[in-house]
Amino acid sequence: MTRRASTSVPIHDVLAERWSPVGFDRSLIGPSTLAALFEAARWAPSAFNEQPWRFLVAPRSDGEAFATMLSCLVEGNQVWAKNASALVLTAVATTFARNGKPNTSARYDLGLAVGNLCAEATARGLVVHQMGGVLPDLAREIYGVPAAAEVVTGIALGRLVDPVSLPDELRNRDMSPRSRRALADLVFSGCWENGHSFAAADPV
Ligand SMILES: Cc1cc2nc3c(=O)[nH]c(=O)nc-3n(C[C@H](O)[C@H](O)[C@H](O)COP(=O)(O)O)c2cc1C
Repeated sequence: MTRRASTSVPIHDVLAERWSPVGFDRSLIGPSTLAALFEAARWAPSAFNEQPWRFLVAPRSDGEAFATMLSCLVEGNQVWAKNASALVLTAVATTFARNGKPNTSARYDLGLAVGNLCAEATARGLVVHQMGGVLPDLAREIYGVPAAAEVVTGIALGRLVDPVSLPDELRNRDMSPRSRRALADLVFSGCWENGHSFAAADPV
């Protein structure tokens, strides 16, 4: 199954094919694939090349670690994330290693790194679902996250399951249409909210 984005102009497959399913098939992902996903994240750009992103990983193959990380998600996410091949908690170092000052770009940089991870995963036929619904205080306690770091999101990654095998609510989520704001509502020209028209642009 694909829920390829319906784009106004063609974009690269790794972007168009990415989406966030709730149906995972409980298969395992090997260490070399996991390494490749984090290697992709590692090569993201960051302010002052600080690389503030940090990742805690729990592959399904390690049942105890997987269950522990699952407990750090809100219940509504546990319902489906329990079938993922691996769970991840993302975090950032909140201050610059170079001078101890607050790194106001840290979360931005983390997002870029996870974007890389998503692209690598999609290119490998895997699916990724990010979650803001995590329990950061519990995660801090369980994993000994230091005061100079913050847990930001969770990630479920794995392989798609056929949505017909899912309970109604989850099946509906994985089969409902995907939507986005129009390009002109996001890209402005001249002044705020003056939607840019690319219609007259020269073809590349
Ligand atoms: C930072 C972030 C937090 C999110 N938190 C959740 C979450 O807690 N639970 C959930 O089911 N989906 C969550 N999502 C997934 C979004 O709902 C999803 O990306 C969005 O609806 C667009 O759908 P798509 O990724 O399939 O294009 C989150 C995504 C991001 C990037």
